[in-house]
Amino acid sequence: MNNFKYKNPTKILFGKGQIENLTEEIPANAKILMLYGGGSIKKNGIYDQVKKALKNYEVIEFGGIPANPEYDILLRALQLIKSENITFMLAVGGGSVIDGTKFLSAAALYKGDTPWDLLTQKTPTLEGLPFGTVLTLPATGSEMNSGAVITRAETKEKLAMGGPGLFPVFSILDPQVIASIPERQLANGIADAFTHVLEQYMTYPIGASLQDRMAESVLQTLIEVAPVIIKNPKDYTAASNFMWSCTMALNGLLPLGVPTDWAVHAIGHELTALYGIDHARTLAVIAPSHYRYNFDRKKEKLALYAERVWNITEGTLEEKANLGIEKTESFFHELGIKTKLSDYTEEFDGTANVISNRFKDRGWLGLGEHKALSPSDVAKIVEMAY
Ligand code: NZQ
Ligand code: ZN
Repeated sequence: MNNFKYKNPTKILFGKGQIENLTEEIPANAKILMLYGGGSIKKNGIYDQVKKALKNYEVIEFGGIPANPEYDILLRALQLIKSENITFMLAVGGGSVIDGTKFLSAAALYKGDTPWDLLTQKTPTLEGLPFGTVLTLPATGSEMNSGAVITRAETKEKLAMGGPGLFPVFSILDPQVIASIPERQLANGIADAFTHVLEQYMTYPIGASLQDRMAESVLQTLIEVAPVIIKNPKDYTAASNFMWSCTMALNGLLPLGVPTDWAVHAIGHELTALYGIDHARTLAVIAPSHYRYNFDRKKEKLALYAERVWNITEGTLEEKANLGIEKTESFFHELGIKTKLSDYTEEFDGTANVISNRFKDRGWLGLGEHKALSPSDVAKIVEMAY
């Protein structure tokens, strides 16, 4: 196992009715900016619950943060934070609203001229305006990590930022919010969390038995709850396991002491930036090709995954590893998620080169756990996914 340091300061309030405990977590004299998305919270009652809980606070609202939070829209919220002297933010939504809030947390204290630099600079954000979250969609883990991904339509870019200053102060996880999530987003959430675990597991063995087994247990739980939650999102037992699995998949516990990959996400983000494909679906497009292309480097973990997660006991190491990839692909298909780029766009010709050139321009010359995937390897992986 590799050395590691670990600190996660986010307080989690998990379970039924936790939204009403909001007030215990926010300073009494706070001036709050409440941020949300396109309006789902007004239809499913979450908006009313939050407003009721905040009745004794001064609250200003900023709605309309779109899926794949857009830089230009966030700049409008930034003006509001400054003109209204906001002291605390509350994100009520999924990964997009929470990520947008993290960007604002950093931007509110940023001394430079152009907040977009927060996305292009390599320095982690050490300090931000404090914020909490009410999670409405389990998927990204953003509610308990310090990363954010922001989109800029003008330049068709989607870039990540983060740092120890961007953990939520608290996050409220009430699994009852899942009842109103449409099937497409439920499937996305399962596939996204599943791939988060794979990014931190599908590398090479390093003798980190507990890390491996924790990762496998998150995968197994997601596989178990997937059909139940898709059929009945009101099933509280399945909803709670689904929600906590998504948080555990990306709250910083799984990568401790082990190598991590993240190439699938790096490539997938480009597909969202170029074609607007849902984040989780881009991962389902890239992951199988990525594992096939890097088969020799990953086959031990692929075989272990096939054995322990999919109960494949027969065959050689290579046969098991191959079946592991096939099982992953079938799992995405069972969720109703297609796994080829051509399933999502007819204009995929040339995509591989566009992405590869972007990586070259950004100096992303060695991706993956070995830092060995060059831009031309990336082009081949994308081509395999056409
Ligand atoms: O906008 P509203 O009207 O609220 O509707 C949303 C949105 O249309 C809807 N929704 C959310 N909760 C709902 C609901 N509908 C009904 N009932 C509810 N309870 O779902 C739609 C999608 O929401 P979004 O927040 O975009 O989804 P998700 O949580 O999957 O977030 C995706 C974003 O997170 C980034 C992705 O790149 C993408 O931009 N990621 C963030 C990460 C992180 N911060 O750690 C890691 C991830 O890998 C990912 O990159
Ligand atoms: Zn993801």
